[in-house]
Amino acid sequence: MSFIPAYPPVHFGFGALAELENELSARGVDRPLIITDKGLVEHGVYQVVRETLPPTMNVAMYGEIPENPTIAGIDAALAVYKTEKCNGIIALGGGSVLDSGKALRVVALQGGEVMDYLKDPAKITKDVAPYITIPTTAGTGAEVTFGGGIHPETNAPAMGIRSPNVKPDVAIVDPTVTLTLPPRLTAATGMDALTHCVEGYLSNASNPPGEAIALDGIRRVVDFVERATADGGDRVARSEMAMAALQGGMSIYMGLGPIHALSMAFGDSPLHHGTLVTVAMPAVMRFYNGRAEVRLAQVAEAMRLTPDADAGNRIADATAELNDKLGLPDTVRKMGYDKNDLDRMIDDAHGSYFNHAAPVAPNRDDYVGIVTEVLG
Ligand SMILES: [Fe+2]
Repeated sequence: MSFIPAYPPVHFGFGALAELENELSARGVDRPLIITDKGLVEHGVYQVVRETLPPTMNVAMYGEIPENPTIAGIDAALAVYKTEKCNGIIALGGGSVLDSGKALRVVALQGGEVMDYLKDPAKITKDVAPYITIPTTAGTGAEVTFGGGIHPETNAPAMGIRSPNVKPDVAIVDPTVTLTLPPRLTAATGMDALTHCVEGYLSNASNPPGEAIALDGIRRVVDFVERATADGGDRVARSEMAMAALQGGMSIYMGLGPIHALSMAFGDSPLHHGTLVTVAMPAVMRFYNGRAEVRLAQVAEAMRLTPDADAGNRIADATAELNDKLGLPDTVRKMGYDKNDLDRMIDDAHGSYFNHAAPVAPNRDDYVGIVTEVLG
């Protein structure tokens, strides 16, 4: 049986920001809070968005969402929301800001502590604040997903906030706001999008329209991530990568898998998520080689590789090669990870809920090999 989910509506393309005012008024929001991060304020991206709204509108801003989403950041944004008597939220940023907004929309209306909802997402009702997302990285796909990870403390592993009720009301994907994204982040978040498309496509969910979206997203990343990284001003490449990231977010609706389970293994250090998952991808593709042949062949074809029985290994090699060309590392050690408790890493990867969607879930012994290879 198939389940075909509904994604949030999306305004896509250069100029899409012009829709923001209409989307606010359609929801009766006349006192929005824009949450964002320091870099986007410093680089003028916040100002670009602010200027799409009337100067007379009461727009509040919280500009200090941290690099990885934390309860402290959400609480600080909530204080501004209350003081300024806001009635809706706009999240402008990468995955951290977009996921923070999902938790913020809950506590803004339902009250209580963020931790209450992390421990028991079933407590999240439909009673949430209006929520519009504007992604500035391409990306996490968090602009359309119905879950996110929030860290209770900066260095503590993330806890999930998964609920259909946190799904954004509408996403505005305007590549204009990705033009200033630095090369390294362009590369790493672009490869995160690839892993979302690949894991979503390979998942055990049946969703033919979603699968078509995933394969299309794979093609776009493979064709355009190097261009977008080499020349941030390449508007065609930026637009293609913004679409690939959105398609990655839609692919997440089918589930993820061991690549993202591995991000849990190293979740006790603040490593960049996109870099971490693309470093993890080759080892997982080698594990799948010969185990999920038909699906792997389709992924290989989307990556312009020979779709034969060795497709898993070909995908692994091509991903490693692409990472290298993009200047990304090939092991987690090279990302600066300095922990040594291998058994704990293996347990965390093996115990992750991401494995539930895998076409073939690695057992603990399999993870010994995979974690060792990814760690380096
Ligand atoms: Fe991811």
